[in-house]
Amino acid sequence: MHPVDIAGPRLQLRELTSDDVDAVHAIYGDAEATRHLSFEPRTHEQAGEIVARSIASSGEQPRTEYALGVVRQEEGDLVGFARLALDPHAQKAATIGFALRPHTWGAGLGTETVHLMCALGFNHLGLHRIWAARAPLNTASAKTLLRAGMTEEGRIREHVFVRGAWRDSITYSVLDHEWRESDGSATANG
Ligand SMILES: CC(C)(COP(=O)(O)OP(=O)(O)OC[C@H]1O[C@@H](n2cnc3c(N)ncnc32)[C@H](O)[C@@H]1OP(=O)(O)O)[C@@H](O)C(=O)NCCC(=O)NCCS
Repeated sequence: MHPVDIAGPRLQLRELTSDDVDAVHAIYGDAEATRHLSFEPRTHEQAGEIVARSIASSGEQPRTEYALGVVRQEEGDLVGFARLALDPHAQKAATIGFALRPHTWGAGLGTETVHLMCALGFNHLGLHRIWAARAPLNTASAKTLLRAGMTEEGRIREHVFVRGAWRDSITYSVLDHEWRESDGSATANG
C-alpha cells in the first residue's frame, strides 16, 4: 500500500518526505524520547539516513516496511515516527514501534498512534496479528499499549543489546478479531 494516509481524531499517519529530517531528528535525536529504545540518540545525519531508507522502503514491491510520520492535524507538525514491519517468518503478522516528541506526551496521542497503526495493519494490510516490544522500565509504553487494546504476552530474555548490555523485552499483541470489537477500530478513518 502506498501512499499511506490515515486519520484519527487528532492525528494523521502519512508517508515521510525529505523535508521531515529535522522533525525526525527532534524525536530520534532526543535523549528522553530514546531512553528506553533499542538505540542511542541519533545524529542529524543518521536521521537523514533513516528518512531516506524509509522513503526507499515505501516504494519496494512487495512492501514490507511502513515507516511513517505522525502529524498533528490541527498544528500540521510532525510529532512522531511510527513503524510497522511485516514479520518475515510469520503469517499475516507485523511488529510496530513508535515514538513521539516529549512535549506532546500525556495527551492521548500515543494511544491514538497505536490505533492508527492497527488500522493500517488490520484494515488495509489484512493482518491477523500485530505485536510490540518494550523495555522493562518503559512504563509509559506499557500503559499506552494496554490502553490501546493490546494484551501483554511475556518476556523475551536478553532481546536487545543496547548501551553496552543485554536487555529483556516485554511483548504485547492484538489480534484482528479483538481489534474489530474494540473502541480503537472506531477511531481511525480509512
Ligand atoms: C510511549 C509514548 C508514545 C506514550 O505517548 P503518550 O502520548 O504520552 O501516551 P498517552 O497520552 O496515550 O498515554 C497512554 C497511557 O500511558 C500513561 N503514561 C504516559 N506517559 C507516562 C509516563 N511517563 N509514566 C507513566 N504513565 C504514562 C498515560 O497516563 C496513559 O495511561 P492511562 O490510560 O492509565 O491514563 C511516549 O511516551 C513516547 O514517545 N515515549 C518514547 C518512545 C517510546 O518509548 N516508544 C514506545 C516504544 S515500545
